[in-house]
Amino acid sequence: YLNGLFGGLHALSKGGGEAAQTPLQIYFGSQTGTAEALCKNLRKLAATKGFKASIADMNSVTPADLANAESGAEHMLFIAATCGEGDAADNAVTFMEALGADDFPALPARLNFAVLGLGDSSYVQFNQAAKDLDERLAALGATRVADLVACDLDYDDDFAGWCETVFATPAFQSAAGDAVATAPEPAKPAFDKTHPFMGTLMNATCLSAKASAKRVNHVEISLCGGGADLDYDVGDALGVWPLNDMADVDAILAVTNLADKEVVTLKTGTASLRQALFKSFDLTTLTAKAAELWGYEMQNGDHVMDALPHLTDLTAQSLIDGLRTLQPRLYSISSSPQKYPGEVHLTIGEVHYTHNGRKGKGVTSTYLGSRLQTGGAVGVYVHKAPHFHLPDDDTVPLIMIGPGTGIAPFHAFLQDRETRGVTADNWLFFGDQHAANDYLYKDALEAWDANGHLNKLSLAWSRDTDHKCYVQHLIEQDGAAFFEWLERGAAIYVCGDALRMAADVDAAIHRVVAEYGKLDADAAKAYVDALRKAHRYQRDVY
Ligand code: 2AM
Repeated sequence: YLNGLFGGLHALSKGGGEAAQTPLQIYFGSQTGTAEALCKNLRKLAATKGFKASIADMNSVTPADLANAESGAEHMLFIAATCGEGDAADNAVTFMEALGADDFPALPARLNFAVLGLGDSSYVQFNQAAKDLDERLAALGATRVADLVACDLDYDDDFAGWCETVFATPAFQSAAGDAVATAPEPAKPAFDKTHPFMGTLMNATCLSAKASAKRVNHVEISLCGGGADLDYDVGDALGVWPLNDMADVDAILAVTNLADKEVVTLKTGTASLRQALFKSFDLTTLTAKAAELWGYEMQNGDHVMDALPHLTDLTAQSLIDGLRTLQPRLYSISSSPQKYPGEVHLTIGEVHYTHNGRKGKGVTSTYLGSRLQTGGAVGVYVHKAPHFHLPDDDTVPLIMIGPGTGIAPFHAFLQDRETRGVTADNWLFFGDQHAANDYLYKDALEAWDANGHLNKLSLAWSRDTDHKCYVQHLIEQDGAAFFEWLERGAAIYVCGDALRMAADVDAAIHRVVAEYGKLDADAAKAYVDALRKAHRYQRDVY
């Protein structure tokens, strides 16, 4: 009652006509920028419900922000991505550590919160960061107004449903202020995930040697023909919509004995079973939901094709209803728009594996590298990477660490700086199994090394000698120089494998800072945390 009264008085004191709005804090932990983009949508929606929302990354939240009675914060919404092995995003990790501490202050019950998680159920630690956050906030005493919603890749519907639930809860309903007319929408990009631009495959060439364990392709896509709106910056990723291999569709039709012309109902309308399987569904990933629907007892690691031979009475509709929708795949862009306007280049490792005795493949990587013909159309959109950008200041030295296909954005950074005539220092760490087979972009890197655009090129070949040489070993070997670059203001960028490489590189950076900065472990951690806060340690890891 008092709250309502104060709310009313507050509105009056502002002169009647002005709207009274309740503060709402929106916090994100975002690695690739999706969580942050959703927070912006959430802010717009909140304004229509009478909330005045502010957005920040979780690392900028202090215990006081959560617990302080003075701040008056009573409504908080979190959108948290999970990366790698259940880790929080880089811009949430410091906050999550602080929140986990035993002496973290208790939170007031009047703090109403809800968490939306972004994850991928093909990882074991599905949405772990969001689960940890949700549980910890509740354990500390805050009031969870809506259950955690854990999105699986395809987040649009879950996000919309979560928003609807949250704003319908008593805590949010009673607090809702006067909705204000929202500002006119900022110009949206003409093309996005659901409205891709149809690019044209210009060229796909293999960068790795035949003898390599991995086939890596350089793929060039034209954005011309109405594509002028497809702006990108180096550091951004390209979302690519694949089509399935018709041979995989045929295999499913054969094993299920279903007629390809049978009509099935999808969210977007109806289609023949063949077309639906070809264009709209993930034919590999077996989810718990599918197993339940099909009455199949799932073994850990089973794929769709492991289940299908065991099913009797499967209908076309139930097959479709169990499958996960096909999703676009994101690739770090490896070209500079300064050098190649109207084009985008990608560096794609083809994924091939054997699973339960069957050959399997990554649908998008093989689509672009092998199945799509030159001149063929492919649906694409730019995925902005707000946390993986060149420094605004062109004098900042760059330290880039990107083994394997992690080279992609650094090829773009170097191309971009060269095309713009930026002469600041650049240091690249690259590596892979064998110099003879896996030296991606060898000509370009050697030319940059020779002409001084690269001040240092550190190459780690892991299987050319009898001991493993990885990029993190070279970081430590050259630790004195590495630290000297940091002291000169260098920014570190890491791209590639999140599970092992990025974690080992992170540990190596901490050790180098401790040794050459003569710091103990805590002080070295604080040094690296400060780099991250100043956007001088950015990662694009997956
Ligand atoms: P490997 O295949 O010999 O183990 C690109 O994939 C390169 O990253 C390969 O040379 C690979 O070596 C290497 N790599 C594998 N695990 C790594 C780790 N933990 N840290 C750094 N590089 C790693």
